[in-house]
Order: sequence, then C-alpha cells, then structure tokens
Amino acid sequence: MTKLPALLAVVLLLLMVAALWRSRRNPHPCPWWLRWLLENPHMKAVAGPSVLIKRMHLEPGMHLLDIGCGPGRLTIPFARQVGPTGRVIAFDTQERMLQVLRARLEQAHLENVEIVRGRAGEGDIQWESVFDRAVLVTVLGEIPNKTRALQEMLRALKPGGILSVTEVLPDPDYQSRGTVARLAADAGFEFVSRHGNLLAFTLNVRKPASTALKAGSISPAKPPGQAEENVPKTALGSGGRNSA
Ligand SMILES: C[S@@+](CC[C@H](N)C(=O)[O-])C[C@H]1O[C@@H](n2cnc3c(N)ncnc32)[C@H](O)[C@@H]1O
Repeated sequence: MTKLPALLAVVLLLLMVAALWRSRRNPHPCPWWLRWLLENPHMKAVAGPSVLIKRMHLEPGMHLLDIGCGPGRLTIPFARQVGPTGRVIAFDTQERMLQVLRARLEQAHLENVEIVRGRAGEGDIQWESVFDRAVLVTVLGEIPNKTRALQEMLRALKPGGILSVTEVLPDPDYQSRGTVARLAADAGFEFVSRHGNLLAFTLNVRKPASTALKAGSISPAKPPGQAEENVPKTALGSGGRNSA
C-alpha cells in the first residue's frame, strides 16, 4: 500500500513526459501550469540570468525584446540590468503566464517593462529596427512557424542588434545547434558566437548592418481582429500594429 503514491507519481510523470514529447510533432506553448519546471537549479546554472546577460552583452540603456518570456524568470533580472534608461518588452502568447509576470513586476516595483501578448511567427511582432537585443530562451521549438518568427525578429532588431537563442535539454521542444544556426541563417542573420555545450547552449546571431528584407518575406499585418485585441499598444513601436 505504501508504494501506491510513488507508483501514481511515476505514472503521472510518464504521462506528462509523453504529452510533452508529442508536442514535438505539433509545436505548442508550454502549458502555464508547468511553469514551475523552469525555475530550478539546473536552469539557473545553464540558462540563468547572469549567464545570459554576460553571453549577450546586455547593457544598461538597451532595449530588449524577450520573446516567450513566460512568467518572467529572466524578464525581471533583464529589466534590472538595462535599468531605468533601458526598456524590456515581455512578449508571450499565454495570458496565464503574463498574469504571473504582472504580479511579479508589481512586487519588484519595475517600471521599465511592457507586457505584450501575441504570437511570434503570426504577424504580432510588428516593431521595426527598435531593439538592441532579442532573446528566445527555450521557446523556438514551441513556435510552429519558426522561419517567419525569426524574420519578424530580424525586422524588430536595429541593424547590428543581436538575437540570442538558448536551448536546454531535456526540454522536449529542444532545437539542436545546427537547426538553430540554419534557421537563423535562412532568416537573414549573421553568426556572432556560440556558448555552452550540446546539453545547453546559446547561439548569438546578428542583424546585418544593412538588411534588405526579401520582398514579400514578411506578409503585411493582418486586418484588425482577435489577435489585435490581444496585443496592447507599446511605446517602443515604429509603425507596426503594436506601436503607439
Ligand atoms: C518554456 S517557456 C520559457 C519561458 C522563459 N523564456 C524562460 O526561459 O524562463 C516558453 C514560453 O514561450 C511561450 N511561447 C510559445 N510559443 C510562442 C509564440 N509563438 N509566441 C510567443 N510566445 C510563445 C510560451 O507561452 C511560454 O511562456
């Protein structure tokens, strides 16, 4: 009888792992109720804020786009790093994740973070040449249209701006270094640096100093609709649907 709870726990864990592995075939966002999986000593060691801030040279005054920010494990330390003269856009598709982030921001008394709900790869990243840095930490594999999402990020970065992509095993949506490098190059990024190892790595890529986006590579903004209602206006934008 005493073994029953342990057995149930193992079955539950196996079911969760099976469900997550299935998501590789059909990418979808990490369920909000699994957000606690992100905040553990392993993640802190291999993809914690201090590691990533150093790798992408995030400096005070910079403007950062945190795509798939989740509950803000990284957003808050990133906001502290860029300071009052900098700005962070915390972008995620799940309202439940953003609710947690909102509460944390209030507690932290941070005013340099703007929360934007939208879907990368579906036309909701509408800024043009405004960010010094963009980050994707254990997010890329959850995005169905990865190439389109990366093209949106390319457009949002300033020329010379850096996109920093971090992938960590055993994330079921893990993307290999080769895959990330190929997708980034296809979208028009230049290689900058690679850090870490196969189990947990960061790939930094840059928007070329002069980028001519291929005509038609990003289709025009969708007409106002449900997605637009989910995307609050932001002071950072310069012409897109997200712009003030
Ligand atoms: C595994 S969590 C990572 C959270 C955070 N980056 C971290 O490392 O703590 C992935 C997050 O990406 C978000 N996400 C997935 N697909 C997305 C998309 N297409 N656009 C925006 N956010 C997305 C999910 O909602 C989830 O919050």
